[in-house]
Amino acid sequence: DQWILIREARQEATVGKTVEVRGWVRTRRDSKAGFSFIELNDGSCFGNLQVVAPGELDNYADEIQKLTAGCSVVVEGKIEASPAKGQATELHATAVRVVGWCDGETYPLQKKRHSFEKLRDWAHLRARTNTFGAVARVRNQICDSIHSFFQENDFYYTNTPIITASDCEGAGEMFRVTSLDLNRLAKSGRDVNYELDFFDKPTFLTVSGQLEAETYATALGRVYTFGPTFRAENSNTSRHLAEFWMVEPEAAFFELPDNMRLAEAFLKRVFTDCLQQCGEDMEFFEKRIQPGVIAQLAKVVEQPFTHMSYTEAIEVLEKCDEKFEYPVSWGTDLQAEHERFLTEKHVGAPVILTDYPSSIKPFYMRVSDDGKTVAAMDVLVPGVGEIIGGSQREERLDVLQRRMNEAELDMSEYEWYVDLRRFGTVPHAGFGLGLERAVQYVTGMANIRDVIPFPRTPGNAEF
Ligand code: 4AD
Ligand code: MG
Repeated sequence: DQWILIREARQEATVGKTVEVRGWVRTRRDSKAGFSFIELNDGSCFGNLQVVAPGELDNYADEIQKLTAGCSVVVEGKIEASPAKGQATELHATAVRVVGWCDGETYPLQKKRHSFEKLRDWAHLRARTNTFGAVARVRNQICDSIHSFFQENDFYYTNTPIITASDCEGAGEMFRVTSLDLNRLAKSGRDVNYELDFFDKPTFLTVSGQLEAETYATALGRVYTFGPTFRAENSNTSRHLAEFWMVEPEAAFFELPDNMRLAEAFLKRVFTDCLQQCGEDMEFFEKRIQPGVIAQLAKVVEQPFTHMSYTEAIEVLEKCDEKFEYPVSWGTDLQAEHERFLTEKHVGAPVILTDYPSSIKPFYMRVSDDGKTVAAMDVLVPGVGEIIGGSQREERLDVLQRRMNEAELDMSEYEWYVDLRRFGTVPHAGFGLGLERAVQYVTGMANIRDVIPFPRTPGNAEF
């Protein structure tokens, strides 16, 4: 079989080979000398393959000269060394077969560059652009590295439920799950509400797989979940989605410092892989999206992360000359502007912030000896802010129950969680990395809506 991917066809090693490639036309240019150049892309790499189609081909005038951006084709020919710069090879076609035409009048992705905002209207087509193709490949690399890292470090991949009755973060920002009897709804003329609780009690889309992951961590030792999570928070920012992907490791016998080391090693592995495996895509982000992003990541993987306690951070923020929109004092939650100041101006690199006040953190975080703070850690990075949130968990039965009472949780929904403290409790810890924020950091993409194929934000579920 001669069919190869363009990634391979662009390598010098293929020169002299007879091959077939399949992809979508990016541009066509006819030369006066009676042949055409077709830039072909198949998604396997950032670069296009230049196809040289000679006028002697029998469908030259009828078809080849009518090719426009978006047409799908199969090309056979011989790979030759290319005299043009920026490409090692080109394909001298012996046959160009059109698979699918694409109307140049109505195809939205014309030569002209569209804004990312405009491209969100064409979420079904935007993956065909350079930027979204590159984002998709980097996102894939990050997912691959996530699994590789945890597998190599003895973590078991564990699947936790999407539909749940518990609110892990206690923020009350959950989507309710109901069943809808569409048949009865249609017959009733829609004047009766046939929304039902499918389960025997109210259920929601999960905000985090952590609580369930803890049950497996206290049996298998080290586990991680990796799946979609949902937040019904009405925040219209460039860092929030209503549906996002989160990876959550959870490890028994881990305390806060172990958790911090794990997070740092994990992030460095992900960044290193992106630099090594996505070279062409990263060069594109460097050139067109965020100058300096490659050097920044290369530096980050070389240096130890800065550690700072919440209390120290508040001191820095109170003393600095920066004018913040939101005032800070000990006990207030940090806003994006504060996180950005700390990472971008104060440290100039990722920071692990620890030991937050218990009053601003969820019930499950372990209360420290001072009685005021919890063993929490957030990893903040320049440009994005918080990408990881985690903690050591409260393993003491009495302290956990007190915290749950203070949070006014419906204890009957969490008995299973409390049981973990009754039956062979152990110190344990974990964290959650927001996949999209990691993709944003690696690529430099400004808006989180542009690093997930189909963004879900308030008022937007087009596809
Ligand atoms: O800090 P969060 O809320 O922590 C948890 O959910 C813990 N249960 C995780 C754990 O310890 N297992 O969320 C974790 C991360 C954040 O740091 C952020 O990167 C991302 O998830 N995140 C969001 N990403 C996109 N849109 C949103 N609305 C997000 N909310 C959180
Ligand atoms: Mg958080």
